[in-house]
Amino acid sequence: MKYLIYGSGNAREHSTFMRLKSETGSNVFFACYGSNGILQGDPNFFSVQNTTMAILLAKEKMVDMVLVLSPLDLLKGIADIFAKAGFKVFGVKTKLAQVEGSKVYAKSLMEEFGIDTPDYRVFHSFQKAKAFLEQSWIAGSSEYVIKSDRFLANASLRVSIPQNLEEAMETLYFLMVSSGMDTGSRYVILEKKVTGPELSNHIMFDGDSYLLFPAVQDYKKLYENDHGPNTDGIGSMASTIPVITDDDQKYIENRVIEPSLKAVSSVGDYRFFLYTGIIKTPQGINVLEYNTRPGNPEWSTLLSLLESSLEDLINYTMEKRLSAYRPVWRQNAVSLTVMATASGYPFTEKEYEEKIRGVENLDEDVMLVSDHTRKEEDALVVSGGRVFGLTHTTDSFENARKKIYANMERLSFKGMFYRDDIGTNGIRFR
Ligand code: GLY
Repeated sequence: MKYLIYGSGNAREHSTFMRLKSETGSNVFFACYGSNGILQGDPNFFSVQNTTMAILLAKEKMVDMVLVLSPLDLLKGIADIFAKAGFKVFGVKTKLAQVEGSKVYAKSLMEEFGIDTPDYRVFHSFQKAKAFLEQSWIAGSSEYVIKSDRFLANASLRVSIPQNLEEAMETLYFLMVSSGMDTGSRYVILEKKVTGPELSNHIMFDGDSYLLFPAVQDYKKLYENDHGPNTDGIGSMASTIPVITDDDQKYIENRVIEPSLKAVSSVGDYRFFLYTGIIKTPQGINVLEYNTRPGNPEWSTLLSLLESSLEDLINYTMEKRLSAYRPVWRQNAVSLTVMATASGYPFTEKEYEEKIRGVENLDEDVMLVSDHTRKEEDALVVSGGRVFGLTHTTDSFENARKKIYANMERLSFKGMFYRDDIGTNGIRFR
């Protein structure tokens, strides 16, 4: 089989490319419409401008399957385009991607299938949303999270957790009234704020059977101790050492995963990743969100723990034979990813030109993946706010932290930032 990954060049796609390359030799190609300064120069890496060029490339290379792994591409219908061109496609079509693309739709599925989720109200009138918040907000006991219905490119706007009513009003006004078409959301969800540890369940589903990946948590807040704006994810940790109680595990399987898979199956033929974001509140486990693709950077972290073949996993899923796949996980292992960000992230969409130095000094057992880098002449250059990630897999979070942060210190660019507390407390879901 020959594979082609189509995408912007982000870390999720980068780690998938590297893994399939190590498993299939030269039978995987990357058609990148964005940039990836680390992969550029690889004979199987190609810059393309659009799907038309990618389809020509796929035909020339006699590709059998195209992988579309990232949310904006899936929502734009890129999987549908490659399917129409005659390729097998690993990636959900637009109709299924709506499970992530509309949070209102996701909430309605949760309600229909009896899945616990925090209370919420949907608004498309700013005045009504404002009046609701004014009436309902009680500092400390009745606060709200503001979620855009639509998947917005800017993560800080997708989900906002205001610190007080004033901040909530400002966010609401920006989202519903003053922002332009690109950032505005016609509908917003005001969701009752609940607190507790969060967990991502990464599930591979073939329409009948599913495979649950090890527990993984990501870090969304930009600054240490979970302060600052929400980001796309600036670190993640996963573990094959059990971290969840048996009762919680049963609850997650019976009350979260199984009904959620029924819910997505009611939408269409689902053969891909589903990731459910959950939270353990004092009242019980709730589902916060659905994502119809692997998380970034969670995927780089999880993939390092999978010892059995990713190529088989993909094919078994596509062929509805997932129950026959025998996953082998690296035993008693943890995996940690820390992302470095550039100045202005996650707010500005500025032009970056900072040179990245020190890549040649990294240890061999640390994986470097690009999220937003490009190559200029011989230099590696920042091309966006979330720049690159380092992943390491070992026996404890303490050792993973030592390794990653020692390597981070060897890298530099002007304005480089990374949280220094990723993995400090290990995975907590109690
Ligand atoms: N890291 C969160 C996400 O991929 O949505």
